[in-house]
Amino acid sequence: MSIFRTKNLDAMLAASQKPSGLKKVLGPFDLILMGIGAIVGTGIFVLTGIGALKAGPALTLSFVIAGLACGFAAMCYAEFASTIPVAGSIYTYSYATLGELVAWMIGWDLLLEYGLATSAVSVGWSGYFQSLIAGFGLHIPAALSAAPGALPGVTTYFNLPAFLIMMVLTGMLSWGMRESARVNNVMVLVKVGVVLLFILVGARHVSPPNWQPFMPFGMGGVMSAAALVFFAFIGFDAVTSAAEEVKRPERDLPIGIIGSLAGCTILYVLVSGIMTGIVPFAKFEGIDHPVSLALQYAGENWFAGFVDLGAILGMTTVILVMAYGQTRIIFAMSRDGLLPRRLSNISPKHGTPFFATWMVGIIFGLLAAFVPLDVLGELVNIGTLAAFCLVSVAVIVLRKKRPDLKRAFRCPGVPVIPALAVIFCVSLMSFLSKVTWIAFGIWLAIGLIVYFTYARRRSLLNQDASQRSVVNEAQ
Ligand code: ALA
Repeated sequence: MSIFRTKNLDAMLAASQKPSGLKKVLGPFDLILMGIGAIVGTGIFVLTGIGALKAGPALTLSFVIAGLACGFAAMCYAEFASTIPVAGSIYTYSYATLGELVAWMIGWDLLLEYGLATSAVSVGWSGYFQSLIAGFGLHIPAALSAAPGALPGVTTYFNLPAFLIMMVLTGMLSWGMRESARVNNVMVLVKVGVVLLFILVGARHVSPPNWQPFMPFGMGGVMSAAALVFFAFIGFDAVTSAAEEVKRPERDLPIGIIGSLAGCTILYVLVSGIMTGIVPFAKFEGIDHPVSLALQYAGENWFAGFVDLGAILGMTTVILVMAYGQTRIIFAMSRDGLLPRRLSNISPKHGTPFFATWMVGIIFGLLAAFVPLDVLGELVNIGTLAAFCLVSVAVIVLRKKRPDLKRAFRCPGVPVIPALAVIFCVSLMSFLSKVTWIAFGIWLAIGLIVYFTYARRRSLLNQDASQRSVVNEAQ
């Protein structure tokens, strides 16, 4: 059954010790910042308004539930990342444990997750950017301000700012990781600074009666808000896709994943609690800048401007890390023969997969330009939740198959924690819309067709095992 063939873990581990062409330049601090860079963005700056309408002040609880789902999955990610520090994140882990078909499908799923996330966040970026320049009296022509059909009653054709930001960041990534990590670090510090500023300034204006009733729409409202604001946590897994560029992956990857996730959960609970404490939640109807609105409501207009700027920087770093993660998944899939070879060519000059970076940047830049935000958002969530379920199952499988492997970080309480991750993620998925489920099903069906007509034959594992020391046919 060739679809269940797995990679030889020992050979992969040995190969990961050899230079791959990617430069090893990242440390734990870079990784935590990279995680926060990927995590804090559109979710907290844009989606909290819609979340508050669904859950009321209990939005804080929605963040805790979504954070717990990610936390359980993060433990599983961290175990894998510290055991198999190879580029490609969960795609690579499932190739070594669950077999080629599952690995392909998860890689295919991740292409959707990371790609559409960059598009979705670029659209959010464009909205904040246009509102910021409007403050200086500057306006982009309406036709070029949004995707077709995105603004009711306005004829729009193309989201130019969303497309352009994707092109600028693609250029940065293709020039070299080190430069990008440096720019990223600075922007993340500014973004976190702005969020902390909001907490400090906003806390003084909280009026506790706004928190009553705490749960106006019951647990159902809390869960459907959790399924939405789950988007705010997406990104910590991008840290694992950098494994081959980390100086000491066994120690640094778990620190990067868990550190960034814990930090963001605390920030989100504080921000959503303060927001709903300042503004009665019903006032968030139709608002796409809920965080700065809260400060305006409190009369802190000057600080509100800062929050706008921080949101733009915040979303910039999210796009950067997501786009980075995606090119590395493509790199890994192409290296295994499942995608065209050219996509894993490393530019000798830049030390990056130059061609793949630009190809993906242009495709998802165009999607950002032509597709509205709401369509993109839910699809990202369902793809990610599915990936989390798989990585949790894979941890249990690998423990059974290879108890002997050296695990620098062990997920505590196996199989309870992975099981909790699956339960939480499936519960959140059940609160997503039917249309999202159908679209996700179509994407997976296309993936299956591509696998059976192209990838299965081209797979390196399909070639003569005796000529390939890095693969085997373990079934
Ligand atoms: N977590 C990222 C954001 O909220 C995707 O923008």
